[in-house]
Amino acid sequence: MAQRERYGLIGTGSRAGMYVGALTGTVLGAEQVPGTAELVAWSDVNAGRLDVYEREVVAAGHPAPARYATGDLELMIADQRLDRVIITTPDFTHADYIVRSLRAGADVVVEKPLTIDAGSVRHIGAAIEETGREVITTFNYRYSPRNSALRRVIAEGRIGQVTSVHFEWALDTVHGADYFRRWHRDKANSGGLLIHKASHHFDLVNWWIAAAPVRVFASGGLRFYGAENATARGLADRPARGTGTTGDPFALDLAGDARLKELYLDQEHHDGYLRDRDVFDPGITIEDNLAALVDYDSGATMSYSLNAHAPWEGYRVTVNGTEGRAELEVVERGAVLIGDDGRVVVDPSMHPDHSAVDDVRPDRERLVLQRHWESAEVVEIPEGIGGHGGGDAFLLRHLFDRVTRDEPLGRVAGYADGVRAVAVGIAGNHSLETGEPVRIADLDLGV
Ligand SMILES: NC(=O)c1ccc[n+]([C@@H]2O[C@H](COP(=O)([O-])OP(=O)(O)OC[C@H]3O[C@@H](n4cnc5c(N)ncnc54)[C@H](O)[C@@H]3O)[C@@H](O)[C@H]2O)c1
Repeated sequence: MAQRERYGLIGTGSRAGMYVGALTGTVLGAEQVPGTAELVAWSDVNAGRLDVYEREVVAAGHPAPARYATGDLELMIADQRLDRVIITTPDFTHADYIVRSLRAGADVVVEKPLTIDAGSVRHIGAAIEETGREVITTFNYRYSPRNSALRRVIAEGRIGQVTSVHFEWALDTVHGADYFRRWHRDKANSGGLLIHKASHHFDLVNWWIAAAPVRVFASGGLRFYGAENATARGLADRPARGTGTTGDPFALDLAGDARLKELYLDQEHHDGYLRDRDVFDPGITIEDNLAALVDYDSGATMSYSLNAHAPWEGYRVTVNGTEGRAELEVVERGAVLIGDDGRVVVDPSMHPDHSAVDDVRPDRERLVLQRHWESAEVVEIPEGIGGHGGGDAFLLRHLFDRVTRDEPLGRVAGYADGVRAVAVGIAGNHSLETGEPVRIADLDLGV
């Protein structure tokens, strides 16, 4: 058997669970993953979260990965002879860990977004040039079968040459609200939703239409969450934290969810990280409604819209071409309902009224192709399994087997893809500040 690649991971929060599970055989099945990769070391600023993951790994029969302080990343890489470091820390920390890992001799797998601003992109670019090492951003949405199906329709030329895209993303009052509870709500930590969330969406468009963004004009604001909006809507006397507040649909009950409790509530005493702060607090600096106009080097344009307080969650994308049009509609969660106890019911199938909800949008996902002078046809979407519309499992396979960019759909995202995805958000944030359109070339991002 070929020698397994040695992985280290930094940042053992929620997202780390997918990688830890895969590397210890619980996500992909025992034969495949351990055949190519093993997790031998990890690090986090919070020792309690490392304890939780360590207990799980050991219970699954794997040796506990070696533990290092975050300041000892270089030592971790040298001591443990790491091939790759997986970075699943908050967005603003990515660049520093990427650069340090590359310089210490490891390749990098970093969660989206690559980083949050132009200066740190240049810093990473310089380290790649200096070391010749690889940085992969994990864009799991490319791997969702429905998104791959749209890519195939466009790549096969079935709508001709792409002229424009219209893309709307709705985040609901569960998932969308979550960005206003914790570190994401400070723009200095996440770059705001144009970076943190929309980098997924901008990457999809770059990849769907095989084009690079060249100019961005953005507009938006904080219009629903935050203290000022709460006061304006008469929502006074908010709790400082959401935990356990019965009857409040914006309360997150950390104690009532075993995973959230053990990973966050029980570990607060280590670092003071509160996972459930109130979404109507003062001091939130990110937007909850965003719009952007993006021009691409192919000549196409995109109109984009993001809303973070919708009553349902999903997205709609229309791609116009010289020979027709493709329309993808996806419902990720049909409704957020309130149960008898006044708490939010996240899974509508658990609510007595769920049938009414499902009747309104019976299709969870639907890809329609209509060529000029022809009737519309529904394009079949293969069934996926697991998180992010089936994207996570495919992504992990490609990642750990080091599948190259030659795979037919070109789903493996390289460094330049990571940069182009955040480029739209970085330019968009400049545009929000200045009120002017921003040329991506002027940001000097090196791609
Ligand atoms: N691809 C996706 O769909 C997806 C989904 C969720 C999160 N993410 C990304 O994963 C990353 C982590 O998100 P999350 O939701 O797991 O966050 P989280 O807050 O749950 O976890 C972050 C972890 O990093 C640790 N940490 C904080 N500061 C650190 C530092 N300076 N050094 C080392 N560790 C530090 C925290 O203690 C925590 O354990 C983010 O970049 C996010 O954008 C991607």
